[in-house]
Formats: sequence, C-alpha cells, structure tokens
Amino acid sequence: MKDEHRGHFGSKIGIILAAAGSAVGLGNIWRFPTEVGNNGGAAFILVYLAFVFLLAMPVMVCEFVVGRNTQMNTVDAFRRLAPKRPWYLVGLMGVLAGILILSFYCVVAGWTLFYGVDALVGKLPTENLEDYNASFVTDPWRPLVYVVLFLLFTHFIVSRGIDRGIERFSKLMMPLLFLIIIVLVGYSVSMPGAEKGLTFLLKPDFSKVTSKVVFSAMGQAFFSLSVGIGCLLTYASYYKKDVNLVRSAASVCMLDTMVAVLAGFIIFPAVFSVGMNPGAGPALVFVTLPQVFNSAFQGMPVLGYAFSLLFYLLLLLAALSSSISMHEIATAFIRERFNMRRRNAAIFVTCICVLLGTACSLSFGPWSGVTVGGMTIFGLFDFLTAKFMMPLGGIVMCLFVGWVMNRQTLRDELTNHGSLVVRIYGVLIFLIRYVAPLGVSIVFVNELL
Ligand code: PHE
Repeated sequence: MKDEHRGHFGSKIGIILAAAGSAVGLGNIWRFPTEVGNNGGAAFILVYLAFVFLLAMPVMVCEFVVGRNTQMNTVDAFRRLAPKRPWYLVGLMGVLAGILILSFYCVVAGWTLFYGVDALVGKLPTENLEDYNASFVTDPWRPLVYVVLFLLFTHFIVSRGIDRGIERFSKLMMPLLFLIIIVLVGYSVSMPGAEKGLTFLLKPDFSKVTSKVVFSAMGQAFFSLSVGIGCLLTYASYYKKDVNLVRSAASVCMLDTMVAVLAGFIIFPAVFSVGMNPGAGPALVFVTLPQVFNSAFQGMPVLGYAFSLLFYLLLLLAALSSSISMHEIATAFIRERFNMRRRNAAIFVTCICVLLGTACSLSFGPWSGVTVGGMTIFGLFDFLTAKFMMPLGGIVMCLFVGWVMNRQTLRDELTNHGSLVVRIYGVLIFLIRYVAPLGVSIVFVNELL
C-alpha cells in the first residue's frame, strides 16, 4: 500500500488479546455449552481438550508462521511462499469462509444484541420464552435491524485499522469480558443445588464417549479456535518479528479453553439449580437461560436484572471480537489485492455480509422453506464453513507448512532466528506433519458422510 501502512499490533499483550478475542466468541459461550449439554458433560470436555492441543493448536502455529513470515493477506502469503502453485487457493477459500461465517454469525449476534437491549430496559419476559424467541427469530424485519447494527459495529472497528481499531478494542474489552465471566461464575456456583451442575461438568462418564461425541468435539475445537481459514494468519501478518509464536499460540489456546469451560461453569450450575434440562440445544442461551435467571432470582429482581444484562453483554463483546477477525480476512485481502483504502475495502465486505446475513436471517422466517440438501441458508453456511472449509483448510495448511515450506524458514519463524529455545520443537513438527492432518482428515471424512 502506497498511501497507507499495513499496520502492526503495537504490544505483545495486544497480540494475545486480539487473537484470543478472535477465538473467544459465540463458539465458546453459546456453542460449547450446547455441545457439552448434548454430549454428556465432562467426558466431552476431556476429548475436546485433547483435540484443542493435538489438532487445532498445530494449525494455529502454521497460520502464525505463514502470516508473520510473509506479512501478507492470506492469499498473497501462499502466493509468495509457493509462486505459481495452487496453494494460494486455500487462502481464497479462507476469504470466502470468513465472509460466509460472518454472514450467519451476525444473525446469532443480532439475537444477542436484541436480548441485551431487552435485558437493559428490563423487558425480557418472565414466561413463555420459547414463544418469545420463536416470534422474534421468525419475524422478517426485526432481527434484520439487529443484524445490520451488529455488522455496523464490526465495520466501524475494522475500518479503524489494526492498532487503533482491533487492538484497542481487544485490550479494552477482553479484560472486561474476563471480569464479567468471573462475576457470573461466582453467582452461578453459589446457587442452591449448583453441585449437580458441577458434577456434570467435572465427573467424566466414559461410557458416554461415542464416535459422535468424538467428532463433535473435534469440530468444536476448530470452530472455537478460529483455525483453518486464514483468520489468525491474517492477524499474524501484523505481528512484529520478536513475537514468540509458539508461546502465543499456547496462550490463545489456553485462554479460549478457559473461557469455554468457565462458560460451562456459568450455565450448568444455574441450569441444574433450577432443575432445567441441560440438553436444550441451541436454545440453551436464548430460552433456557432467561428462565434460569427468572427462577433463580425470583425474590431479588435486581440481581436477576444484573445477571441477565451482564450475560448478554458478555456474549455480545465476545461475538464482536470474533466478528472483526472474520471481517479482517477479506478486508486485508481486498485492500491489498486491489490496492484500495482500508475503509473502502471494509465497506465492500460489510455490504456483502449485509446481503448474505439478510438471507441467513430470513431463513428462520419467510425463507425457511428455501433449502439446499435439506438445509436452510443459515444451516448451509454453517455446514459449508465449520464442517467443510475449516477442516479442509487445516489439513492443507499443515501439509504446506510441514512438507512444502522451506525447513529453515520454518525453524527461523518458530525460534525467531535461533534466539528462542522452543522445547517442544520436535513434538510440534510431528504434530504438524502427521497427527493434525491425519486426525483432521478423519473428522473431515466423517462429517461429510
Ligand atoms: N472462534 C470464534 C468463536 O468461537 C468463531 C470464529 C470462527 C472466529 C472463524 C473467526 C473465524 O466464536
């Protein structure tokens, strides 16, 4: 870019918080508890933990290496490292996947915004939450307002650039997010009867580990860590040369896992405390939880108000710090490829997402009959990205870094030209070359069958 600098993350803590912001999102607080609830609790969590560190973390390291080494968007990065060879297609797939994920993500984020506003003005109903939820999500217009609002927030942060937009937002919001989580966990575990929820989360029953549980855990690990579509590759292209890539990846994986598990500690003790069903699925956060708030704080409406408001605020912040990272994949690519200003590239991406997001939102209402292979538009986007593009991207990136990329370049990136001692170097390379591509191939094939 001649007229604009690409930008850099200014501080090491900013780097970790921005990448953790990308990883921590609806995937942790909405999808993870849903999966845990449907897949039997503690045993699922253990399998999930194994996959985070064996499969998803190696992909994250690969993305960091390619991004930081080339300092380019996800398409040009592969073009630079493997000129005239088709590896860059994985970058293009990532750009597309980022747009598609954002388009369905903003729908759930929009619901969160709606519930947050309701919680703020004290309008969340106390009964018939199922009908309340259904009448909102199937409405053709109301959810759209929130979808567009959410995309505008995302747009605003991304168009401010890396250090003044993404980094500043993450540095401000992530600590707030952690604080809210701690407060909510404190509330939740001290509710009467919370022990049953804790047992559900902590005592594994291995008879529950079926192949479905294993595969769900693997899919969840990919989605939750934002890996396989060049999202963290793009962030790493703004890293300075002294960043310790392996340690950063480990920190992000640990923070993300911590938030997911803590989200479990917010939701399940409360759910069990009021005797509700932990396997309510995607409705857990939008139907079950408001009911939990009601019954839990019947005699103390102020606490009920604070608890629900904090919860939806938490979900909204987490969604926003993830959505900016999806947006940035395409914005960085378009800006650099077509030599555009960041602001204009971002406008372009936002417009596409408003259009596609509208389609996803309508697929809960008037367009619910529009299906492809039995899936609504929302379902199709979710399937194409989480179940197809992310695993495929992960395999390709591991194969590229493990087998194609220059060995010395790889070593230089991981050790910062020999100035760092990476104790797990050998293990890491083994994971990148063999374990991750093979493991992910298994989930990939299974998901497609
Ligand atoms: N990791 C995010 C979450 O848990 C989702 C995400 C996917 C973000 C892909 C960026 C890219 O909600």
